[in-house]
Amino acid sequence: MTVNPLALSELALPSYRRPPPGVHPPLDVPGYRATLLRAPKQPPVLLPHGLTEVTGPLPGGERAVAADADLTARHAGEPLGERIIVTGRVLDSDGRPVPGALVEIWQANAAGRYAHAIHDHAAPLDPNFDGAGRCLTDAEGRYRFVTIKPGAYPWGNHRNAWRPAHIHFSLFGRAFTQRLVTQMYFPGDPLSAYDPIFNSVPDPKARERLVCRLDMSITQPGWALGYDWDIVLRGREATVFEPPEQRR
Ligand SMILES: [Fe+2]
Repeated sequence: MTVNPLALSELALPSYRRPPPGVHPPLDVPGYRATLLRAPKQPPVLLPHGLTEVTGPLPGGERAVAADADLTARHAGEPLGERIIVTGRVLDSDGRPVPGALVEIWQANAAGRYAHAIHDHAAPLDPNFDGAGRCLTDAEGRYRFVTIKPGAYPWGNHRNAWRPAHIHFSLFGRAFTQRLVTQMYFPGDPLSAYDPIFNSVPDPKARERLVCRLDMSITQPGWALGYDWDIVLRGREATVFEPPEQRR
C-alpha cells in the first residue's frame, strides 16, 4: 500500500489540552512526601503527538471478558469482606458517553492488604482475592464491577498515616498514550480528612467528585451494596486525574 505523504500531513491529530489550574493536584504536594522526589525540577516539555501515538497500539476489546469485572468470582472460594457493586459512566466534557473505553481497577482486600510483593502491611492476604479487574464501557459508556469494599492501610507518609478506603482506576482511550489514572473514595470516610493524597486536590468540589455515591437502585437486596461513580474526562466537571509522576 502506498501512503500519500500529503494526506498524512493534512491529517488533524487530536491534541492534548492542559486542564485548568486548580482542579488536578500539583506535581509537588507539601505533606505528600513521595512527591518531593518524584516532582520534576524543570518545567515539562510538551511533546506533540504524532500519528503513531494517537493510533496505536490499541488495547484490544477482546482481551477483557465478562469474568474480569467480577473480582469475587475468580478464585476457588468467595473473598472475605463486604461485597459491593461499583458502576458508573465514562463521559466526555459535553456529557456524552464514551463507549469502548478500557477501565481497569486495582485495590486492597477487605483487611487493607494488596496482593503485591512490595506491600508489607501486617494484614492477611486473601487467597480468594487478587484485587484487579477490568472491563470495557458499553454503548452508554457504562462500566460495572463486583468487588469487595477495600480496607484502610498504613502507608508511612507521616506518623500514623492511613489511606482511606479507595479503588484505583485507569482508563485508556484510543491508544496507550491516552491513559488517565485516578482514585475513587467512599462517602463518609473519616480518614479522608487526614489523607494528603485526597487533599492534594486544591478545589474542594473537584475533591468531592472523587467520592462515589451509595445508590439503593444499584444495591441488590440481600446481596451487595451498590455505589455509583461517573468519570468525566474533561471540562468543568472533570474527574481529578493523577500526574504520571504521582501514581501510588
Ligand atoms: Fe492504594
